[in-house]
Amino acid sequence: MSSRTSTIKFAISHVPERLPVAERERRLANPGFGRIFTEHMVRILWDSEHGWHDANLMPYAPLSLDPGTSVLHYAQAVFEGLKAFRQAAGGVSAFRAEAHAARFRNSARRLALPELPEETFLDAIDVLLAADHKWVPSAAEHSLYLRPLMYASEVSLSVHPSSEVTFLLIASPSGSYFPRGVKPVTVWLSEDFSRAAPGGTGAAKTGGNYAGGLLAQAEAAEQGCDQVVWLDSSEHRWVEEMGGMNLFFVFGSGPAARLMTPALTGTLLPGITRDSLLVLGRDLGYTVEEGRISVEDWRAGCEDGSLTEVFACGTAAVITPVAAVKSSRGSWAVGNGEPGQVSMRLRKELVDIQRGAAPDRHGWLYPGRVSSKS
Ligand code: PLP
Ligand code: COI
Repeated sequence: MSSRTSTIKFAISHVPERLPVAERERRLANPGFGRIFTEHMVRILWDSEHGWHDANLMPYAPLSLDPGTSVLHYAQAVFEGLKAFRQAAGGVSAFRAEAHAARFRNSARRLALPELPEETFLDAIDVLLAADHKWVPSAAEHSLYLRPLMYASEVSLSVHPSSEVTFLLIASPSGSYFPRGVKPVTVWLSEDFSRAAPGGTGAAKTGGNYAGGLLAQAEAAEQGCDQVVWLDSSEHRWVEEMGGMNLFFVFGSGPAARLMTPALTGTLLPGITRDSLLVLGRDLGYTVEEGRISVEDWRAGCEDGSLTEVFACGTAAVITPVAAVKSSRGSWAVGNGEPGQVSMRLRKELVDIQRGAAPDRHGWLYPGRVSSKS
């Protein structure tokens, strides 16, 4: 069977035997984050002669890779992370799919990978959701996490932009990224390691940025912290972002609160949740700005009470409050250690839009172009 979409023809092959409903429901009941996967995946091939071709929906299965495959050696790969939500009025929509498609292209460009047309990225989501929509959880805080990725699949040990590339889209029913849910996290300031430097790949969503951060993440865990906060690479003074999330700082309280997030200097990932919260913060009447904050000002603001809340935000993390900061130069608490009012108001606003419980006034929900979802 095949399905004609706007850009590329997908060959569709379903799994021969679907999982019994009871087993699917059992897996969906307590999904964790990124541990279980749906029954299908999308694969599209690219090579320098034919461009994008051979688009397939196929059963989810392990890959077989030649040990000489370029990505295993030189890490030429990018990925995205976005979520599909079961909607209050029925159906399933992906949140800001077009923005994720655009960032995927930008990341690919930085990694010298071919850019996947945005319509093809959206088509891939349509085709996968049409096959696996029953895997979209309905519990509050649960969603279907979509993971598009692209890697250098040419078999070659010579260092060059790959002439063969594979795009995959997989999907993972997921709950909270942090096992304790919305409970505030403790963060570790990494003063010895750097995540990204000017001219590097910090603004791209590429695996190497995460691999390079794992030692600092392990150090954070040894210090009893949940996450690393990255600082600028030259002075280790200016706050950039977390291991897999952006940061927001809230000054003051109530309607007069001011929200600040570190500006996109080229070394931070331009988070789509970050962008959404800049818009929603303004909608709610807060003063909202992109700026910069030093470690000293973070600490001083918490100590004199002017900095009232700090939260992490990202697709996986949604909004997660930060309760305490640790570093080799000292530790301090943020607010009273409880989720702040501004953080939780923004969180509700965001989640309500994602689930169709509040009007989608910015056109952020992508309902897909395939009508077989229920
Ligand atoms: N920063 C990093 C390093 C990330 O991995 C993520 C997660 O995708 C974010 C920020 C937040 O980005 P988004 O809100 O688009 O998920
Ligand atoms: C996401 O939020 O989608 C990410 O890619 C972050 C990752 C740490 C799971």
